[in-house]
Amino acid sequence: MSQRRRTGALALAALVLLVGGCTEAGGGVRGTPGAAGLRDPLFPKLGNGGYDVGHYGLTLAYDPASGRLDGTAEITARATQDLSAFNLDLAGLTVRGATVDGAPAAYNRAGNELTIRPRDELPEGKEFKATVTYTGVPEPLTDADGSKEGWLRTAGGAVAVGEPAGSMTWFPGNHHPSDKASYDLALTVPAGLDALSNGVRTARRTEKDGRVTTVWHVPEPMASYLATVAIGRYETGTATALGSVPVLTAAEAPVAAGSAALRAEVPELLARQVKRFGPYPFSAAGALVTEDGVLDYALETQTRPIFPAGSFERTTLLHEQAHQWFGDSVTPGTWRDIWLNEGFATYAEWLYSEEYEHVPARTHFERAFAQDANWAFPPAAPPTAANLFDPPVYQRGAMVLYKLRETVGDRVFDEILRGWPAKYRHANATTDDFTAYAESVAGRDLDGLWDVWLYGDEKPSKP
Ligand code: ARG
Ligand code: ZN
Repeated sequence: MSQRRRTGALALAALVLLVGGCTEAGGGVRGTPGAAGLRDPLFPKLGNGGYDVGHYGLTLAYDPASGRLDGTAEITARATQDLSAFNLDLAGLTVRGATVDGAPAAYNRAGNELTIRPRDELPEGKEFKATVTYTGVPEPLTDADGSKEGWLRTAGGAVAVGEPAGSMTWFPGNHHPSDKASYDLALTVPAGLDALSNGVRTARRTEKDGRVTTVWHVPEPMASYLATVAIGRYETGTATALGSVPVLTAAEAPVAAGSAALRAEVPELLARQVKRFGPYPFSAAGALVTEDGVLDYALETQTRPIFPAGSFERTTLLHEQAHQWFGDSVTPGTWRDIWLNEGFATYAEWLYSEEYEHVPARTHFERAFAQDANWAFPPAAPPTAANLFDPPVYQRGAMVLYKLRETVGDRVFDEILRGWPAKYRHANATTDDFTAYAESVAGRDLDGLWDVWLYGDEKPSKP
């Protein structure tokens, strides 16, 4: 379901040719291998070219005692070029077999690239189903900024988070935010443990051997960095938000009591945000709270953001909820556009504080203006992968929105805040899409604003 396609990366294609081999007996025109990366400005190797995923069906069995994960990924995709081979991103683990449309397919591993070579070439436009079976003890990944992510072991289970790249440690896929897809996840764990994930729980059954399988359905498109799994002993709570959205919150037993009051606020806080940002984009909601010491960050995992207990407080909950509109529904086209996530989520904190704590947004803006750390680089241009979640992305991102509000006035600004997530609902968008959209609503050119606040290297002389 990607909006942006970058195909024909010849150098990368040549690399795949070396890995996967290229000529083969058989008549007809041969396609070329899909590119091994989507040439993201900050993460050139993430994602893969030549196909577009529509759905992931993940069947996972986890044994917390040994840490072993057994998985089957059924990936339904459409070829966007004639394909002789294509890549999936997968870090670690052992691949046991691959098929394409039921026929055994050759495969090859090189670093985090898994190349699949179907028996028959896939013509452009064809829908196909690739199935990969795999096993192993997942290894966490260390981000450029030093935080660890992926499939992380806990005292009695595991949690999985992956912004930007950790999801490739537990399932093969097109791990770039531009290729969103729907998901089904079937999680089998020892009896007595819970296995939670995104979306709606559709089934729970006991297997012949006594293990328990829980099935989760995510109907709306989801970027793979927003997929989550939480396995362990959890206490859960259910409610209804916004009249009809099922809410499921869960917290690991030792942090269940301490998080219960704020978990109960999930519906009410969502309702507040709907007033600002328009209709809630998903068919489920909730929150997951884990014991401290495992997760390095809270994450806006789709429908069910996840928090280490120590950061489960109201402002962070609001921040991760705001991401459901800004990041999860409207997803950045590239990682360089990350301020579209973090700037909006930070601005949502300012709005809350303005409305309910009576601290004007202007005060938040001036505080951010005064901090040197926020001037390291412009929000629309994080210089390296290590800077993706640095202060300018959050604080200067929010400052851009504040200046926009000051420039166009409250009424037009409110229209932009609601209109942006409506226009790009369940899709991808870039910084250029945002500036063009804001100008179209304002009815005028705003170059002066963008030059200084979004792209400018220099700190302006006054706020
Ligand atoms: N998006 C998360 C937030 O709500 C932060 C993710 C941080 N990831 C990282 N690799 N440092 O702000
Ligand atoms: Zn955030």
